Amino acid sequence: MDRFVIEGPCRLEGTVRVGGAKNAVLPLMAAALLARGESIIENVPDLRDVHTFIKLLELLGARCDLAGGTLRVDTARAEGVEAPYDLVRTMRASIYVLGPLLAARGRARVSLPGGCAWGPRPVNLHLEGLRQLGAEIDLERGYIMASAPQGLRAGRFRFEPSSVGATANVLMAAALADGTTELLNCAIEPEVTVLAEALREAGARIEGIGTNTLTVDGVPRLRPLRHAVIPDRIEAGTFMAAAALTGGRITLTGCRCAHLDACIAVLKAMGCDVETAEDAITVAAPGRLAPVEVVTRPYPGFPTDMQAQIMAATTLAAGTSFMTDTIYPDRFMHVAELRRLGADVRLDGATAIVFGVERLQGAPVMATDLRASAALILAGLAAHGETIVRRVYHIDRGYERIERRLAQLGARIRRVAE
Ligand code: EPZ
Repeated sequence: MDRFVIEGPCRLEGTVRVGGAKNAVLPLMAAALLARGESIIENVPDLRDVHTFIKLLELLGARCDLAGGTLRVDTARAEGVEAPYDLVRTMRASIYVLGPLLAARGRARVSLPGGCAWGPRPVNLHLEGLRQLGAEIDLERGYIMASAPQGLRAGRFRFEPSSVGATANVLMAAALADGTTELLNCAIEPEVTVLAEALREAGARIEGIGTNTLTVDGVPRLRPLRHAVIPDRIEAGTFMAAAALTGGRITLTGCRCAHLDACIAVLKAMGCDVETAEDAITVAAPGRLAPVEVVTRPYPGFPTDMQAQIMAATTLAAGTSFMTDTIYPDRFMHVAELRRLGADVRLDGATAIVFGVERLQGAPVMATDLRASAALILAGLAAHGETIVRRVYHIDRGYERIERRLAQLGARIRRVAE
């Protein structure tokens, strides 16, 4: 397992290009199963999770080719219906194949994703939503056994709470269900909107895209997908937080500013100067960050996937900050590790109270999940002395060669094989 060795403090300055969104490309890859033929997905980031999903598609019989950011998925001979535990346990998003396999093959055997580093991640909404489309679903020895021998039929379902993954899964199934399906309280994260647009371009009949209510007139078949992945708003937010935390100035190119309003508002509240253009953002840090109160919400609210990274920035703010995660109330695995770097953070239920300190001290820390890893790297860049971040395979899941891109911005960071 690799680790990062970071020498801080440093100021990050320069320009970095934002890659394709991990959380947009994974459902698009699953959607390729809805059609027979070769789907083409562009602006695909070179991430561990993308390679894991390719393995899953190949297990299902698809032929995949990823070259120069373009992914071709040929499902002409894809007859498989099983997503095995050994693969699903490494990537929860594997559950995205459930809806498409049910819709296109009439059955699926998908391992139940377990919890994750910070706690339970239920999938009841995925299962209930698919049952509303006529699927028979049982749980057997850790597997979801699903079938729809007569095909899926239209239904009506409200997601409570709104769920990115469940909306994507049920939407993909509804695209081929017989009749008109109505989905209520849908997630409207950009990654869901992009999936709906890609499905519509492939022949699906979806109304209400971008709103909380989706109406889907099922069609007998879809054409293979042709779509480009949107820029990764969480990767963009992570680099913006890095500029703030290191007292630097970073320009992000190739990003979609409209997807970052909540992050921009928080960074401005912390005293950063943020300039936006059509597809570029420049973040310049103040002399010292101001404390902030942040509550995570479904899009367009402040994203839970940025909670850890902004918390890292608040550890050095001139005052007390409050971070409440309403999506995952226990998503605080990074707190204990930040404390090892000298941060003063108290937990009170779903709220972390962060008392800003003058400086952080480098120390060995352990990555536990993707966004916690990012937070620890950011804190290590600002800490005085050497920080070692272990288990960086977590970060490779969602950030492409992060150490090289940070080094290009002035970070002293290197990857060491353990
Ligand atoms: C997606 O996960 C993202 N993953 C997560 O990003 C992100 O944190 C999350 O959405 C919230 O934005 C991908 O897109 C691959 P949810 P997902 O279903 O779909 C509850 C990262 O770092 N819920 O929107 O699993 C759930 O407990 C990852 O890139 C149910 O109760 O999240 C949570 O409280 C981490 N039952 C809320 O809904 C269900 O069946 C939102 O979760 C499903 C979810």
